[in-house]
Amino acid sequence: MKTFPQRLMILGSGELGKEVAIEAKRLGCEVIACDRYQGAPAMQVADKYEVLDMTNSLELKQIISKYNPDLVIPEIEALAVESLIELEKEGVKIIPTAEATATTMNRDKIRNLAANSLGLNTAKFRYANNQDDLLKAAKDLGYPLIIKPIMSSSGKGQSLIKNETEISNAWAKAIQESRGKSNKVIVEEFIQFELEITLLTIREKDGTTKFCEPIGHIQRDGDYQCSWQPAQLKKEELKEAQRMAKMVTTNLGGVGIFGVEFFISDNKVIFSELSPRPHDTGLVTLISQNISEFELHLRAILELPIPEIKCEEAAASRVILSKKQLQKPLYRGLENALSTKDTKILIFGKPNSKINRRMGVALALDTTIEKAKKKADDAAKAIEIFENN
Ligand SMILES: Nc1ncnc2c1ncn2[C@@H]1O[C@H](COP(=O)(O)OP(=O)(O)OP(=O)(O)O)[C@@H](O)[C@H]1O
Ligand SMILES: [Mg+2]
Repeated sequence: MKTFPQRLMILGSGELGKEVAIEAKRLGCEVIACDRYQGAPAMQVADKYEVLDMTNSLELKQIISKYNPDLVIPEIEALAVESLIELEKEGVKIIPTAEATATTMNRDKIRNLAANSLGLNTAKFRYANNQDDLLKAAKDLGYPLIIKPIMSSSGKGQSLIKNETEISNAWAKAIQESRGKSNKVIVEEFIQFELEITLLTIREKDGTTKFCEPIGHIQRDGDYQCSWQPAQLKKEELKEAQRMAKMVTTNLGGVGIFGVEFFISDNKVIFSELSPRPHDTGLVTLISQNISEFELHLRAILELPIPEIKCEEAAASRVILSKKQLQKPLYRGLENALSTKDTKILIFGKPNSKINRRMGVALALDTTIEKAKKKADDAAKAIEIFENN
């Protein structure tokens, strides 16, 4: 049996890290929140915080050694994964595992695993290390295509291209906006999907796999705009998504929650990618489920029992984005936003905003997905973000 409080170090202190920190604090854990800037959301609810460059191997190792945490919980992709791998060999416990963190950070590694090793259905894809290769790959696959850096998140460096004339700009964008110094891109067939989902998948210590109801979402410019749960899938589609999610997460191993992304197109389920941590589209579970994705993550990693996961009839989330660049932003309109029944607002408390930065989220419940979406939209619209001059 574990003794509490456990000491947890969270790498990445954004809004998802903040919810993880809150759940950890509820269980009496000691939380050290890390990020590259001071005042990040999770730091506001943690016992201690550290500001560092988490892509720097030495800095990351030093901070982990300084605290010697029981668990290191990566909450973002951009980490010096090589130091996590080294530390894991020395006995530091990384969630879910250092290798899974490294694999999911690189589009080629996770795609090789899913498509080549496990034979999962994915968009057709090729890799390219220069523009000539890219052109050849594009000819091979046919247009339209999506070009992405091997390492990036939130849609950074991605282009949808319709013909050959757009190749060189897409190449330049992918290289420029790639994280790290990689010269490799992935080029993917563009899937005209009817629906995009995240299947939250939980792995427990004994190897049991559990699923949440699927979450539908809409993405724009690489970031999610709204999500809803449960997403309507045919029975066979859900079964297939669960089969694929179980296969890939079992292969990655470790414990915790995974956000497995799929496209549903023409009755086919197509694996896209996954996060070995709570997923942003899963913020909706803070209103839709009896146990949110954040609590599920904590329970799984602390090896605590997980009860039956129950989902409301219809729930939705809508992000609250800043329209401007602001220092110490202020908020108004919460009275209006919260005047409707079964509505919640989360303000993340970021110390500054820029255009389209996610500053909060509106959550709503109703009897149908359409009504829940409308409620969440209205609540998000009611919030105004402004500067105090
Ligand atoms: N092959 C594809 N066909 C159609 N749409 C795609 C394809 N690949 C990506 N997209 C769209 O772009 C979005 C972002 O792509 P992806 O998830 O690969 O990138 P990301 O930068 O890792 O995003 P995030 O980290 O925010 O999940 C997807 O959610 C989907 O809407
Ligand atoms: Mg994604």
